[in-house]
Amino acid sequence: MCGIVGYIGKKQAAPVLLEGLTKLEYRGYDSAGVAVSDACGKIEIVKAQGKLKELKKKTNDGKSLGGNCGIGHTRWATHGVPNETNAHPHCNDDGTIVAVHNGIIENYAELKAKLIRRGYDFYSQTDTEVATKLVDYYYKKYAEPLKAVSEFALKVRGTYALAVLFADRPEEIYAIRKDSPMVIGTAGGDCFLASDVPALLSYTRDVYYVENFQIAHLKDGKVDFYNLDSERIDVPVTKITWDAKAAEKNGYEHFMLKEIYEQPRVVEDTLNYLVQGGEIDFSELQLRGEALKSVRGIVIVGCGSAYHVGVAMQYVIEDLARMPVRVELASEFRYRNSVLSGEELLIVISQSGETADSIAALREAKERGLKTLAVVNVVGSTIAREADWVLYTKAGPEISVATTKAYSAQLVAGYAIAIKLASVRGTVSAEERRMLVAQLRLLPEKIREILQEPTAIQQFAAETMDRKNAFFIGRGIDYAVSMEGSLKLKEISYIHSEAYAAGELKHGAISLIEDGTLVFGVLTQEGLAEKTISNLEETKSRNAHVAVVATKGIEPPKTCDRIFYIPQTDPHFTASLSVIPLQLYSYYLSVAKGNNVDQPRNLAKSVTVE
Ligand code: F6R
Repeated sequence: MCGIVGYIGKKQAAPVLLEGLTKLEYRGYDSAGVAVSDACGKIEIVKAQGKLKELKKKTNDGKSLGGNCGIGHTRWATHGVPNETNAHPHCNDDGTIVAVHNGIIENYAELKAKLIRRGYDFYSQTDTEVATKLVDYYYKKYAEPLKAVSEFALKVRGTYALAVLFADRPEEIYAIRKDSPMVIGTAGGDCFLASDVPALLSYTRDVYYVENFQIAHLKDGKVDFYNLDSERIDVPVTKITWDAKAAEKNGYEHFMLKEIYEQPRVVEDTLNYLVQGGEIDFSELQLRGEALKSVRGIVIVGCGSAYHVGVAMQYVIEDLARMPVRVELASEFRYRNSVLSGEELLIVISQSGETADSIAALREAKERGLKTLAVVNVVGSTIAREADWVLYTKAGPEISVATTKAYSAQLVAGYAIAIKLASVRGTVSAEERRMLVAQLRLLPEKIREILQEPTAIQQFAAETMDRKNAFFIGRGIDYAVSMEGSLKLKEISYIHSEAYAAGELKHGAISLIEDGTLVFGVLTQEGLAEKTISNLEETKSRNAHVAVVATKGIEPPKTCDRIFYIPQTDPHFTASLSVIPLQLYSYYLSVAKGNNVDQPRNLAKSVTVE
């Protein structure tokens, strides 16, 4: 969601900024802009509505903008429609202070009113113009950029990653963040700033993760950090170990397809990290069995697909570890006055580790005295830094907005947590535990097997691409997967889709079933399949178009129109297999419709606003 970049160095800035923004495209955006300052401090701003190619066209790929220092932005509209006026960078009245910003200034209306009273005019509907003019106000007052930026931080409420150019300080960038990610790198006399690591990787692997309320000053090929009292502080350098190639398409038409096909490997990598000698081993997380022994219940929070992983985990943990588990949408948890004893463990699941609602839920849980475990993909992210323990999923960088491989890595992390809890609580025998772990180890190969046969799914996607409505139904874990299958379909194909617990359909939503409505049934649980088959038959008799994802050995309804079989596994782990045909289905359907698969409309990869 929004991307910011900054550069100062020996190269022409604009092409570097555009390249950085291209690497951040996956975050989702609807307009873009750059500001470049020359050695005399003259700042030129160019913006364009739509995709980066428009901005590239306007600037001849950046070549038409001189200057070695600049900032850039891709905007995902929050305040004001996505047009050129509202696009960043924003500036003060005489264009001598220019800024880009990720996040939301919550008290922007109040600040804007104050600035208007002090004689400021506003040309856009954005909170970022307010932020820029607030910095301008304090710069005029104190004539000191560090002071102007720290006063800004003291006056605003909300989240921000802000980078500012001052015309009278050419070839310098000032930046600050709160709850919106920012990384900085230096290499060979050049300085780079970005909202995410991929934008820096072609230049450096040594990055500084800027913490809340730290001010960065980029100048002369180096970066200095300050606190809000303008005192110098040390920020450690982190070495990025993942391969830059991992964030490229490697011959696949889309990142989503590449990431779907990476799933056997990421599941294997996550298991290698969590399993030692046939047992679940959390020593790398420094999470000992004793810490889990005192846990009286589990609360799982997450958003979107991460929440769906939580729903699947609920079934698995309750069944294996026989303890109460609640799953809540992170965006709801924080606003409910939940009844908590303080002895629960909160598990927060997040690919990015930067989702605003999940961060807020984590903080709420900590305030309520809960111990917290984060299941996170992005190393060094806010959630990873703030939770008591971190279990890193080993999915590598996920670029496609629609998650696939991170979801799969989160699922196996969830199974590992369930087995660990069961072992600590003595609810499964050593023999059962070994069997479960052995079954886990076989998942990568089984996912690979499903991925070898995509043609039937591709065909089915092409045949059904004109459907207007779809339902995904299942019971238990199959319901959890139905939720994920339905979300995948709607987000990238724009087909309206609902997930229903199979038994619930007849309590209302069945009225929507008509000639040709697509109904996907998920059938992986031996004891439950028969019931779901009856529900599928009910839709079939109302002329639904019925497809089934079923474990080999489960007899699907005779009348269904299409069957996709998956290999057998332990019933607790079936979500890892049944989700694969559903991911492929959504992918191929989106391709057939000619949609922008990796960057679906209105969506962002990392949702840093509440
Ligand atoms: C769906 C999707 C989103 C995310 C959700 C949480 O494909 O990607 O629903 O799962 O926005 O994001 P993270 O996991 O980064 O907290």
